Amino acid sequence: MLPLYFAPLQGFTEDSYRRIHHELVGGVTAYYTPFLRLEHKGIRTKDARDVRPEFNAGVPIVPQVIAKDGEEFTFLVNYLTELGYREIDVNMGCPFPLQTRHGRGAGILQHPECVTQIAEIIRQREDLTFSIKMRLGLTDESEGISLLPILNDTPLKHITLHPRLGSQQYNGTADLDAFARFAEKTTHRLIYNGDLKTPADVHAIATRFPNLAGIMMGRGLLARPSLAQEVIEGTEWHRTKRIALLKKMHDHYHAHLATIIPGEAQLLTKVRTFWEYMEEECGRKAWKKIMKAGSLRNYLNAINELT
Ligand SMILES: Cc1cc2nc3c(=O)[nH]c(=O)nc-3n(C[C@H](O)[C@H](O)[C@H](O)COP(=O)(O)O)c2cc1C
Repeated sequence: MLPLYFAPLQGFTEDSYRRIHHELVGGVTAYYTPFLRLEHKGIRTKDARDVRPEFNAGVPIVPQVIAKDGEEFTFLVNYLTELGYREIDVNMGCPFPLQTRHGRGAGILQHPECVTQIAEIIRQREDLTFSIKMRLGLTDESEGISLLPILNDTPLKHITLHPRLGSQQYNGTADLDAFARFAEKTTHRLIYNGDLKTPADVHAIATRFPNLAGIMMGRGLLARPSLAQEVIEGTEWHRTKRIALLKKMHDHYHAHLATIIPGEAQLLTKVRTFWEYMEEECGRKAWKKIMKAGSLRNYLNAINELT
């Protein structure tokens, strides 16, 4: 069976969400964490918390870092290895201008000299396993392809490719032909990532690209947390079963957040993110009621009514 991975989604797949998903439904081989970055010469407390081993006990995770050069990369790698991690994913795909204009994420794809610095460190750290998650380029597909002489010469467990340009952000569709062109030119094992919402979507990708090392899903898994499990079971879950899972996961998520977020308004803002990508799964009317509820009480009632 092809390994299925949960993509990193900053603001959504933090430690508590990952644990609840793993315990209540699972189906994924590993959860990639949202990226860890250097800010004011340190790691933000919130990001540091997310990778603390005690908050991730029993949950298979791969921490991810985002860096603009070898210096930032070394700091982040040392930070994670001191926590005991031996496998690290490198973000070369984040499309947000806040990162790309500093040469991080998809921004680094235009700077082969910085990719070379990172590749050199990867080659030296024979004690660690690295993978890269990237886009086709920042503004042009040729950018990713032209990095392949460097990347092909670097020991990597795999490359995860989301076949969009950084400049596209999330517009348009994933470019499967561009994925195929990249696959032809890399010597690395490839993981496909992008726009998979249903078990049929996953099967279609696995059929078109029979040599994949795995499939990674992000928004599709947030919207339908049983997606990976359904693929493994080889049969789609009935809607009733899927909605029951959503309610159960939400109960756990709400109970957990209530212990760490004091005010009702703040709690509501955070816990509501659970439903952000679920408009299609819940149906527009029921979803709007959940998303627009002005108090925790109305919000919980709206969830109760969901069928
Ligand atoms: C809100 C949000 C946050 C994201 N955060 C990260 C991140 O921290 N690291 C990363 O590599 N990708 C991040 N991504 C990109 C996803 O991991 C994934 O590559 C992208 O959403 C395409 O896959 P999907 O269509 O299955 O969601 C993020 C995407 C979204 C929408």
